[in-house]
Amino acid sequence: MWHAGAMTEAVLLVGGQGTRLRPLTINTPKPMLPVAGVPFTVHQITRARDAGVTRIVLGTSYKAEVFREFIDGSDLGIEIVIATEDEPLGTGGAIRHALPYLQSGPDDPVLIFNGDVLSGVDITGLVDHHARTGSDVTLYLTPVEDPRAYGLVPTDQHGRVTAFLEKPTHPHEIVTNNINAGCYVFRRSVIDAIPHGRVVSVERETFPGLLASGALVSGVVDSGYWLDLGTPLSFVQGSRDLVLGHAPSPAVPSRGDFLALDGASIAASAQVHGGTSVGRGAVIGEGAVVNGSVIFDGARIDAGALVRNSIVGVDAQVGADCVLDGAVIGDGAVIGAGNELLTGVRIWPGSQLAATTIRFSSDRS
Ligand code: GTP
Repeated sequence: MWHAGAMTEAVLLVGGQGTRLRPLTINTPKPMLPVAGVPFTVHQITRARDAGVTRIVLGTSYKAEVFREFIDGSDLGIEIVIATEDEPLGTGGAIRHALPYLQSGPDDPVLIFNGDVLSGVDITGLVDHHARTGSDVTLYLTPVEDPRAYGLVPTDQHGRVTAFLEKPTHPHEIVTNNINAGCYVFRRSVIDAIPHGRVVSVERETFPGLLASGALVSGVVDSGYWLDLGTPLSFVQGSRDLVLGHAPSPAVPSRGDFLALDGASIAASAQVHGGTSVGRGAVIGEGAVVNGSVIFDGARIDAGALVRNSIVGVDAQVGADCVLDGAVIGDGAVIGAGNELLTGVRIWPGSQLAATTIRFSSDRS
């Protein structure tokens, strides 16, 4: 008879296309985008490592070669195995695809997590709950203020999941504020039972199927830090929170009002703050104000520009006196002097915007 061992293995799902973060994800898959100075994946891998994971399977598909190159050139103090799907198999299909790469026994707990969630979840507590209750799957749940945009996961007084509900459309359908936070512990044999070689959604197919078959699915509500970095505004927020120390990660190079990586150059009269990170070789010109933003490697912000809550891609240039607020500038794009780009604006990689002579009178704080 098998007895559950300690949790030592994890599967990290990083194969999605990251459509909501386009155009940043055209060249770089979302989990490899730098957040507070390192690829987002590194924050997750090091947190898992610190919780006792010694071996991690990266479930890749979209732009798998970017992960391979990075992993081959780095040592994160943990064994990393790359499992690449020829065709994306969805979240459940990707977990099943990782099975032959796992070494855990059938009853052992395997940690599974989405590649775009920044959280302070107590991983050890989640695994302990899983073992204590003898659950087949244990989900990390997070309470959100407005659950209308999410599928809901109600639990009974023992923490047993009672249903997986679609996004509520009427107030009476909001039976809980707890949502699936994108991190689970699976009994390994539950992974064996996921259909092989086809697209499977863990959220829409595997979890409801487990409930229907009478499996014990538990939920652990953790109200600590949680953020899905899937959209541009949440991406900058996550980076900012890591730099400012509001979000936990062992991988942030240094914390403070801003983070400047090696070779970044910030003019004496520039103001850089609010958790901004400035990438390697990036240049911030005289009098520029950069607040709560992510400036990728080699980007240039010229004199007098105001950049707030924005992401400026690799080697992109933002001309003098431009105003950016909530904008996303693709890699290598050139924004001529004096342009104003506000929330929701996305500039495609390599685009060029002519300079404008109209000057805006934005609040430059
Ligand atoms: P959007 O396109 O912006 O929704 O982002 P996404 O592609 O990351 O999709 P979503 O946020 O729903 O995915 C949740 C997690 O599962 C992310 O970490 C994805 O990388 C991962 N994922 C989604 N689909 C697949 C897949 O087919 N294969 C693998 N290996 N991972 C996937």
